[in-house]
Amino acid sequence: MNARSLSTRLTSLLVVGLLASACGDENPFPSFDELDALQQLHSPPQKPPADATNRLADNPQAAALGNRLFHDPKLSACGTVSCSSCHDGDGRTVAKAKADGCNGGVTGRNPPTILNADYNRWFMWDGRADRLWNQAILPMTNPVEMGSNANIIRSVLTQDYLPGYAELFNKTPDETGDDELLANTGKLMQAYERTVNRLRSPFDEDVKRFIAAATVSVAEGERDPAYLALKTYVRKGQCIVCHKGVEMSDHLFHNIGVKDGSESAPGQTAAVEPMLNWKFNAAGAFSDAPTGTEASRLAALRTTLADKRSEMVGAYKTPTLRNAALTAPYMHTGEVATLADVVEFYNKGGDENGTFTGTRTETIKKLDLNAEEKAALVKLLESMTGQ
Ligand code: HEC
Ligand code: HEC
Repeated sequence: MNARSLSTRLTSLLVVGLLASACGDENPFPSFDELDALQQLHSPPQKPPADATNRLADNPQAAALGNRLFHDPKLSACGTVSCSSCHDGDGRTVAKAKADGCNGGVTGRNPPTILNADYNRWFMWDGRADRLWNQAILPMTNPVEMGSNANIIRSVLTQDYLPGYAELFNKTPDETGDDELLANTGKLMQAYERTVNRLRSPFDEDVKRFIAAATVSVAEGERDPAYLALKTYVRKGQCIVCHKGVEMSDHLFHNIGVKDGSESAPGQTAAVEPMLNWKFNAAGAFSDAPTGTEASRLAALRTTLADKRSEMVGAYKTPTLRNAALTAPYMHTGEVATLADVVEFYNKGGDENGTFTGTRTETIKKLDLNAEEKAALVKLLESMTGQ
């Protein structure tokens, strides 16, 4: 928005704000702050942020090898499960709550999409990985997912991925130590995953158009087809508090009260120390930038650990909402079936106390949405599917 229209808008907001308070009406939407929050929601950059901890992150040859590795079931101990087994189809996930791994194994949580994954700052529902390449090591070695190890992976790389591997890493798989081999394989997969994005969506166009209308006048904004949905998203629903910015996530962890009696219910609190002390993290020996900005985020997290501890209990990562229509079912448990059910979940203020670990964050409370507001929110979520 240019400075002129901004100041025109500011003046009209002030004038209408005064009128509204004079007649005791609700303040017109959007306020200046709300307008600012809306401005931040649309038009994500076409490429995820750079990741200096993987020098091959944007290397096309690495992405090509990573693409093959991602789809290669030979990497698994059972020979039948690849990354794509659980991250497939339009939504790059599975259509059920939990996914099936090697030898009858079943995952403890719902697989998130890998679409736009490297726009995230933390990975996994509980944040136990801090980079996309080290995230990949977890499913490869997890007994209920791929159950693999460096020996299995080394023989596959030697058989099917030479000379590509040697060109990129300047050594053969045989010359690569076990941990480094796992890290390198993850780095190739990250290079591929960084290319798997679905961004620009009807939602972005709607937000832009609404902002333009609301900048002309309040009445013009009210006439816009996206008015009720965006107003509910921002104001009554409070969704914007956590699902903000172009990624539609604050990159933080919250306890929103999702029913979960499983072993993994403590969420972030159980994951944060293992991640900070992990040899594969951004500050570790396998990072290509162990003292860079990605690594300094770990140091920052460590210093706030004591203060944040109680908020971490039962807390999960705020997921992106982009492509949500393609990724049902929802939440870390996968127990919420549809987007309409998600809206109902928030409308009742989350699941009942006692059905989840820890204390629900204050923002989540009963919303009293009417039928139109609920329908508008569902339509808004559906419009977030990218191309
Ligand atoms: C058996 C099913 C299964 C397999 C195989 C699998 N995943 Fe996943 N994936 C999951 C589940 C479940 C989660 C969530 C786990 C959690 O948060 O505790 C997940 C999480 C992720 C995430 C995190 C996304 C985010 O937003 O936090 C990425 C990225 C990912 N997987 C990529 C991969 C890659 C790469 C591979 C292969 C090396 C792989 N997955 C193999 C089930 C699977
Ligand atoms: C306090 C922060 C917060 C607020 C406010 C919030 N969310 Fe969420 N949202 C989260 C977190 C955290 C999760 C994951 C929780 C879990 O799985 O335990 C989530 C999950 C979701 C999901 C499921 C996504 C998926 O891939 O499984 C959708 C859809 C969603 N929220 C939409 C909304 C809408 C619509 C609103 C407003 C009515 C809203 N959220 C308000 C933090 C928030």
